[in-house]
Amino acid sequence: MTDASSVPLHIIDLIRKKRDGGALNAHEIAFLVEGAASGTIPPEQLAAWLMAAWLRGLSLDETRALTIAMRDSGEKFSPRLLLLGKVAVDKHSTGGVGDKTSFLVAPIASACGLVVPMISGRALGHTGGTLDKLESIPGFRTALTLDEFGSVLAECGAAIVSQTPELVPADRVLYALRDRTGTVESPGLICASILSKKLAAGLDALVLDVKTGSGAFLRKREDAEYLAALMVATAETAGTRTVALMTDMGQPLGRMAGNWIELMEAVELLRGERPKRSEDLRELSLQLAGWMIHLGGKADSPERGSAMAETALNDGSALRVFLRMVEAQGGDVRVFDDPPAFHRPGAARVLEAWESGYVSDMETTQIGWAVQRLGAGREKAGEPVDPHAGIEFHARRGARVERGQPVATLYATRAELLAEPVALLKKAIILSETPPGAAVPLVSRILTYENAEALLRDAGKVIG
Ligand code: URA
Repeated sequence: MTDASSVPLHIIDLIRKKRDGGALNAHEIAFLVEGAASGTIPPEQLAAWLMAAWLRGLSLDETRALTIAMRDSGEKFSPRLLLLGKVAVDKHSTGGVGDKTSFLVAPIASACGLVVPMISGRALGHTGGTLDKLESIPGFRTALTLDEFGSVLAECGAAIVSQTPELVPADRVLYALRDRTGTVESPGLICASILSKKLAAGLDALVLDVKTGSGAFLRKREDAEYLAALMVATAETAGTRTVALMTDMGQPLGRMAGNWIELMEAVELLRGERPKRSEDLRELSLQLAGWMIHLGGKADSPERGSAMAETALNDGSALRVFLRMVEAQGGDVRVFDDPPAFHRPGAARVLEAWESGYVSDMETTQIGWAVQRLGAGREKAGEPVDPHAGIEFHARRGARVERGQPVATLYATRAELLAEPVALLKKAIILSETPPGAAVPLVSRILTYENAEALLRDAGKVIG
């Protein structure tokens, strides 16, 4: 019998096979990924294959093979982690508005004895970027070499950095092509892209925060659940203990959305403060951190993990890790002595309720665009962002407001940038005479390997 790996492959055959609804084997997928990373397969052929994969979908076996081949397309961080002798855990969110849980869960998990090698991204679409937010701290560097990444982790137990050129080069090529060819929103391609980077970082355990609701990328609940189950099953079979929490993005998380103002809010919580309009942020951070601590083996249940996380907030140990990490990554920690004093927007405007009523709904994607258009995000790749732009929300879903009462404060670089976001907010915040129905749960479902497998089986995709 001929060994599959000895048969010479041609990319045109793999494009035709996928186009006609066939499934590629692991050897064929490895050939494609290696060609993407090395540049031996031209972009037009990769783009044609991506479109065929988007239209036909990827089987579970193909998704797993793609994830592993992409993980292995460059250097891996795992050997450096082994030297640290600690269990490595991380959290990944599918993206939302005002989502700043990384600034809480990374130092909390480190304070509880784990190591958190977090590789994060920039603003994408209507959502903010963890790296852009951190770079509002003067001097903070996110582009660390692998050696520097290792040193910060050894010193602080947590580091938040951008993807390095050495890790997962195939994703850089494929992601840029997907962005330009309308092939981003494919569960198999998203799963392989996200997980290849997480697995290359050498994680023992991963907690996924999969958003649903009006501010999520995948708005339909069944799509978000399918992606969550796919990621849990793929990561688990690749050897990383993984769980996904389906969480509400039907309104911004916490009361701030922007860059520096999100750090201000996170640091208040790290100081043990309990602002009422930040309670959802605190609660979600404790639940995510609880799972990280549990999967990392430091607590025998996620509930016990959450209790440990709460102690790390209350006793200041998580704050100490956060400040040490900022310093180790070149940031000036003096700005945290008085965070509001460092907030210097060029212009501000208070939006008052245009009528009396209940905040019955929020179109959170439009709210996210309002934040980006104030200057917190960019129009074109590579542009600088305004560290001081953003929105503080004075009323959350379900609140009663009277005409003239402040609903939000908008911050921008220049006064002329305020008009469009004000108009967006007036359409996105729905005021009604009647209060909204039952409160939406913050965490609506938890997918572990067992129920992820069952969900995929019900969706007709048996894990093979
Ligand atoms: N984030 C990624 O890194 N990859 C995707 O495909 C989508 C979001």
